[in-house]
Amino acid sequence: MPDLFEIIETTRSMRRLKPDPVPDELISKILQAGICAPNGGNSQRWRFLVIKDRKIKEAVQVLYKRAFDETIGPRYLASEPPPGVTRERYLRQHAAVSYLTDHFHEAPVWIVACLEDGANPGRAAGASIYPAIQNMVLAARALDLGTTLTTRHLLYEKEAEMALGLPRGVHSYAILPIGYPMGKFGPVKRGALAEIVYQDRWGEPYRGV
Ligand SMILES: Cc1cc2nc3c(=O)[nH]c(=O)nc-3n(C[C@H](O)[C@H](O)[C@H](O)COP(=O)(O)O)c2cc1C
Repeated sequence: MPDLFEIIETTRSMRRLKPDPVPDELISKILQAGICAPNGGNSQRWRFLVIKDRKIKEAVQVLYKRAFDETIGPRYLASEPPPGVTRERYLRQHAAVSYLTDHFHEAPVWIVACLEDGANPGRAAGASIYPAIQNMVLAARALDLGTTLTTRHLLYEKEAEMALGLPRGVHSYAILPIGYPMGKFGPVKRGALAEIVYQDRWGEPYRGV
């Protein structure tokens, strides 16, 4: 198994997934990694919904696609490539985003990461679930499974959470569609550290890079 830094550096969003089933044992390992994450006061108000039911996935995919057609797709095309990403690569990313949009429901397993109400309000709202989500993303990579952290369903939060059958007082923060990837992992593309890390005073270059 690759070492932790290699896993981190090669965990890119894997949007093209095979429909082949993923053993429950691997999904359990991913979930176990998720709940090792820090969370406020160790109150563990997280809940995870594993979805394999095609009908439920299809109902959410309709909303996911609507959000792409109406909002995300046009915004993507109108935006400049992010730091460290060439235009050509950005267009490839857009094609992959569009692919996942059309095939979201075909991923054999979803993990829906949820929190019960009563966790941190305001800016810290997702702080007790996103560490668990990232642990699961990295664990999937370590097991040679692909996934992408997705939150787009939240553009139709009420409808999506109804389709997911969430009870009152529980909210979803991300859906991880998981499957064996068609492509290769990593490396991720980011801007240079020197552009974004300061030392002592805002704007003064950090001298460690
Ligand atoms: C909060 C958040 C929400 C995201 N939502 C989506 C999404 O709904 N659909 C998607 O295809 N990717 C989504 N992503 C993945 C990002 O687009 C991706 O991480 C980013 O473009 C960097 O690419 P990389 O992960 O391949 O390095 C999301 C990422 C984050 C952190």
